[in-house]
Amino acid sequence: MAEQRLLFVCLGNICRSPAAEGVFLHLIAREGLEDRFVVDSAGTGGWHVGNPADRRMRAAAERRGIHLPSRARQIELADFSAFDRILTMDDDNLRNVRSLARELGDRPGLARIEPMTSHCRQHRASEVPDPYYGGEQGFEHVLDLLEDACGGLLESLLREER
Ligand code: 4NP
Repeated sequence: MAEQRLLFVCLGNICRSPAAEGVFLHLIAREGLEDRFVVDSAGTGGWHVGNPADRRMRAAAERRGIHLPSRARQIELADFSAFDRILTMDDDNLRNVRSLARELGDRPGLARIEPMTSHCRQHRASEVPDPYYGGEQGFEHVLDLLEDACGGLLESLLREER
């Protein structure tokens, strides 16, 4: 398989997309596939640029043995050519990312944009809900959805290669 470059995107890049990045990194490390992927995350907003993932998100991930290494950054136009796929967490993220992509016009070779939940196998959900203003359960739910979706995504990428 050619190297796959994946960018996970949410609003602040401190809760959902760093968690998606960490869960995916955890999965490929377990399978010994690290050298086949470039994995990163970004936010559509820039308020938290430079910050580590939210403490509550990191704690919930650590309880599952998952480390979240990311520092927040904002998505930029160069990302659309630097990555093969951009995976968005909710409908707002999807709309904002698509609107940015429109600035680049109809060029070949730009990232495919898709909702992260389209890769879920166990859960029926159309969005990974923003946990920022809620309680601990919201962070657990984010991880449940992301473990499901990351597994489905990895499986479909490996299947495509055959
Ligand atoms: P995220 O969560 O998009 O999953 O990183 C949020 C983090 C911060 C804010 C909103 C959502 N905020 O408004 O600061």
